[in-house]
Amino acid sequence: MADGTADGTAGRADPDALFNFSALRRFPDVEAENLFAFDASDTLILSESAAALNGLDGDALDGGALDGGAVAVVGDRYGALTLAVASFLGSVDLRVQQDLVSGARALDRNAAELGLSGGFRRVPLGEELFAGVRVVLWQLPRSLAELAEVADQIARYAHPGVVVFAGGRIKHMTVAMNAVLQESFADVRAGLGRQKSRVLTARGPIRPSGESLYPVREFSHELGLWLCAHGATFAGARLDIGTRYLLGFLDGMKPDARQAVDLGCGSGVVAAALAAARPALTVTATDQSAAAVASAAATAHANGLAGRITAVQDDAMAGFPGGSADLILLNPPFHLGATVHTGAALKLFDAAARVLAPGGELWTVYNNHLDYRAQLQQRVGRTSVQGRNAKFTVTVSVRGRTG
Ligand SMILES: C[S@@+](CC[C@H](N)C(=O)[O-])C[C@H]1O[C@@H](n2cnc3c(N)ncnc32)[C@H](O)[C@@H]1O
Repeated sequence: MADGTADGTAGRADPDALFNFSALRRFPDVEAENLFAFDASDTLILSESAAALNGLDGDALDGGALDGGAVAVVGDRYGALTLAVASFLGSVDLRVQQDLVSGARALDRNAAELGLSGGFRRVPLGEELFAGVRVVLWQLPRSLAELAEVADQIARYAHPGVVVFAGGRIKHMTVAMNAVLQESFADVRAGLGRQKSRVLTARGPIRPSGESLYPVREFSHELGLWLCAHGATFAGARLDIGTRYLLGFLDGMKPDARQAVDLGCGSGVVAAALAAARPALTVTATDQSAAAVASAAATAHANGLAGRITAVQDDAMAGFPGGSADLILLNPPFHLGATVHTGAALKLFDAAARVLAPGGELWTVYNNHLDYRAQLQQRVGRTSVQGRNAKFTVTVSVRGRTG
């Protein structure tokens, strides 16, 4: 029997001390000097959960080793949590959910490099991810809606004795997170801060009686469309003000276009507005986020547009053939994870340049202070400002005939 308790920190061994975190890379996600593949919140989650993980290796728990050994890792960025647990508890039933395809690819790569590819299985958010799970390691999301959606699912499906270790950087944590977790767990405690990080430990899942609220669904009277959103989706089921400004230009967008892309689709609001306004178009809504893609599919369905909108999860259209679209719409991200970084937008400009057919148009909206015009001109093609209000600029960039 392991000498750790299910809730203490006196673990037999600390995975933090047993794993070489510096071997991890972010690739194929953007890599730069100020961007890291792991941080102190990963190592703190691992050390706080060490005793509970130690208790999972067999006879400490009832229900057999397999059931007793089920661990779910949620929100792991590049594999720090998953691969430390996989190397620490070789035979555990380790289930992993990551929202971002770039993070999922980085985890797969890091796992292959470290010989740990067989040590976990990827499962989408839902019952299979949490059924019978005793320990959840969770990189706290930034949005309370995502926190609420995942907490609801853990409480709904996990083992009644589940212990959840949800950690993050203190600067990104708010007391509202405790309140959200308390909706789904009877006992939520904040641990001590270490290296600017903190872990919230939750026990006593409160089984929800009704159906999940997600994806949430709201009718936009302004657009005459239903918008649907899972918790992790940008702007939820509401119309972002930059997006609203971009949609004011729909009529002027490449009139003869047949194949359009809603790049970084979030809820799929742009795809739905475009498909509704332009019956001759088919639209691919694509995003790196699994939650966004599921939301865009739900939005298309809710508006009777599923036959003309296809939702695809991909990192910056990596799997799209070159020259395959004649119109791309983009409200670019300005974060890479929690870090404000222009690399996220520039990567999408380069992707648009590759996927646009000659003469194709990229329509972009951005905050005035970002002034992306020169970058768009250099990376995509001739770029002109189509509109500018107090906050936002809308540009069109035309892909040159010579590429
Ligand atoms: C500002 S939001 C816009 C969302 C939606 N189009 C709207 O207008 O409400 C930017 C979106 O880009 C997505 N994104 C960021 N980097 C991406 C990448 N490398 N590949 C695909 N999507 C990406 C984000 O997940 C996010 O949904």
